[in-house]
Amino acid sequence: MSAVDLPVLKRSAQVSRKNGSVVIRHLRDEITLDGAAAELFGKMQPLLDGKTEIDRIAQNLNEKAPRLRALAEQMSKVGVLSFMNAPAGELMSGTDFYKLHKEHCAFWLEDVYRQPLWEQITSGKASRAQVIGFAFEKYHYIEGAYEHMGIAAANATPEMMPHLARHFIEEYRHGDIYRKGLRSLFPDDVVLRAQPLPSTRALINYLSETAARSSFAYYAGNELLQLTENTGDDKAGNAVNEFYDAMRKHYPWTDKLIDSFIEHTHADQKLGHEDAFLLMCKSVPPLTRAEVDDALNVARSMAEHLLLFMEGIDIFYANFPTVPRLPCDLRSE
Ligand SMILES: [Fe+2]
Repeated sequence: MSAVDLPVLKRSAQVSRKNGSVVIRHLRDEITLDGAAAELFGKMQPLLDGKTEIDRIAQNLNEKAPRLRALAEQMSKVGVLSFMNAPAGELMSGTDFYKLHKEHCAFWLEDVYRQPLWEQITSGKASRAQVIGFAFEKYHYIEGAYEHMGIAAANATPEMMPHLARHFIEEYRHGDIYRKGLRSLFPDDVVLRAQPLPSTRALINYLSETAARSSFAYYAGNELLQLTENTGDDKAGNAVNEFYDAMRKHYPWTDKLIDSFIEHTHADQKLGHEDAFLLMCKSVPPLTRAEVDDALNVARSMAEHLLLFMEGIDIFYANFPTVPRLPCDLRSE
């Protein structure tokens, strides 16, 4: 069996058809197949599962194997298809991984940004409970840093340890910044007793679980979350600022809350957290294919957990407008 015998269409590739052409979108690239190539791809597509050898696909389709292999190799070059049995021995440098990870995260985050709550807040359609709920869940999430960052530092590889220990020390009090904002609306003991939504806990738990297993994969996941806070380049900075400006306009009573969000972003910036992952990637030894797969899978799952976090806020507080959620006690239950 040659190294190109088990083709698999990448999981994140989206296929659509238009006027006989096939358009395959992968991350932010788009490839169009026309004529015979489009027709051949249409027949091959159900069998591009990473388990069927090219010779068998050719037999099933009554096609010539070299023709299928040529198309598969072309698609592999543009990155929409890979070969399950390609040599796994190649290593990837940390800095190459950094670029690959950034590209994938930008794509995976698109679904998170499409979640309707962002637009509901910027247009003023979100309810008071949803807006306060958003602030509380953000606070719980940031508070969770003292859990997962401590676990990550304790289980780190020697190369990751100094970065994670530093990050933990810098980050574990950041929940207090948000708490200060929430205190403009609620007494301190109410803020301290507030309970996170299960969907918020799921995000923190996934971070903790990964932190105990692989410090590099953990930070690859954490970096996806960090990317949503970064205001480093102008485009990202403007998007974050526009969101806060619109929120302030429609919900003027959130003024102090927003100040605390912005204060936190500035605190992270001052500590150089935007560059933390790049420094880690420069420190780690070259990564095996299994390590690359693991770290990318964690980042992708993190995007799904982040989407769940947003949906939790959106749906729960739209239906149960009592905010914050307080723990039950014998008198309340
Ligand atoms: Fe922070």
